[in-house]
Amino acid sequence: MGQDISRKTSEALFEKAKTYFPGGVNSPVRAFKSVDGAPLFFKQGIGAEVIDEDNNRFIDFCCSWGPLILGHRNQKVFEAVMAAMENGSSFGAPTRLENELADLILSNNRFIEKIRFVSSGTEAVMSALRLARGVTNKPKVLKFEGCYHGHVDSLLVQAGSGLATLGTSSSAGVPESYANETLVVPLNDIAALRACFESYHKVLACAIIEPIPANNGLLLQEKSFLLELRKLCTDYNVLLIFDEVISGFRVGFEGATGLYNIRPDIITYGKIIGGGLPVGAYGSSAEIMSHVAPDGPVYQAGTLSGNPVAMAAGIAQLTECLTPGFYEDQEKRTQDFIRPINEFAKEKGLNFEIVSIGSVFWLSFDGKKTIRQSSQINSDMSGFRSLFNALLAEGIYIGPSGYEVGFVSQAHTVAVLEKARAAFIHALGSLI
Ligand SMILES: Cc1ncc(COP(=O)(O)O)c(C=O)c1O
Repeated sequence: MGQDISRKTSEALFEKAKTYFPGGVNSPVRAFKSVDGAPLFFKQGIGAEVIDEDNNRFIDFCCSWGPLILGHRNQKVFEAVMAAMENGSSFGAPTRLENELADLILSNNRFIEKIRFVSSGTEAVMSALRLARGVTNKPKVLKFEGCYHGHVDSLLVQAGSGLATLGTSSSAGVPESYANETLVVPLNDIAALRACFESYHKVLACAIIEPIPANNGLLLQEKSFLLELRKLCTDYNVLLIFDEVISGFRVGFEGATGLYNIRPDIITYGKIIGGGLPVGAYGSSAEIMSHVAPDGPVYQAGTLSGNPVAMAAGIAQLTECLTPGFYEDQEKRTQDFIRPINEFAKEKGLNFEIVSIGSVFWLSFDGKKTIRQSSQINSDMSGFRSLFNALLAEGIYIGPSGYEVGFVSQAHTVAVLEKARAAFIHALGSLI
């Protein structure tokens, strides 16, 4: 039986919030626009569970959109944050904690030699683009259709019409002249990629990709495509940026870079790196990073960059991620959760499948497993909307958008996942 979801308090809070914030939220996807009703206002998270203002409890697979790989209010992260706070929340001067987090990352990552901490994934990407342009002295960037890299002006761009490679802006406020500095090609399309490099390599500073695209469904790329991208970048003196804001520290400590063993020139991080507090980062070789101020001419700065409380949270979380077997265990629990749900869907002939890698998964209503391009996604989200609401009634919370992925955390124990699996199957069954 699904639990009765009262949203009275959330609804009242949302009405109030609408008087303060555009759309009542501080980030658009939270507004529940693509599902029904008012967004749930959460007041507490413990382990794998969240509790809303109406005291509904849910097993949470949104996990703050990825950062909480240890679950909510992890004791070690909590204690590290409290200990850091004891000493003051910010100095605007270097602290030992920045060294510690950097050392933890760099000594366990074969692909970067230096790192710079910032405060969000968007900031990391924005800084990485500037660095690439500064190093190559070229203006244009290449992105892939369906990849999201935060709300950076020049990346709020979509493919132009027809075969045009030059992007057009996808947000008001982004001048076409900015958008024109961005080229857009489809994912997993080697011919289009080669054509773009041949035409534009002289003006192309960098190509940026989510090596595991996870913002428009989970569009797992063929390794041959990523290898070809690497090769073209090398051949044409274009820097390759892997945006690992989701995949970094998620599919392995070295992220997708380590998983595929492909060396990009610059890597961006966010989400998990900050243990649930606002941290982003970009890293590269010592040579490329020597272009960043104050060593070099590429300016980039931040009042709260390397904030000690956030650094402490990151250290505590990443230390746990380095426990031997951590990622294997995450993946196994995720697979054991998903497999029976997919078997149920298949047995019932549902046009539904959970696609996954590591502890990331996506609810696909496309009836085929190997979707690699955003244009292949079924844009009819009615199936997702129904399932989202059925899951809420069963005590399961997932991100309120059919294009977004879900996350399994360390706090999603075998017992929690067994409960969630039964609820999931019940929810799916209720839709037949
Ligand atoms: C791949 C990727 N890059 C960049 C960003 C932007 O990060 P933030 O929301 O921390 O600015 C996101 C956010 O979801 C992301 O998924």
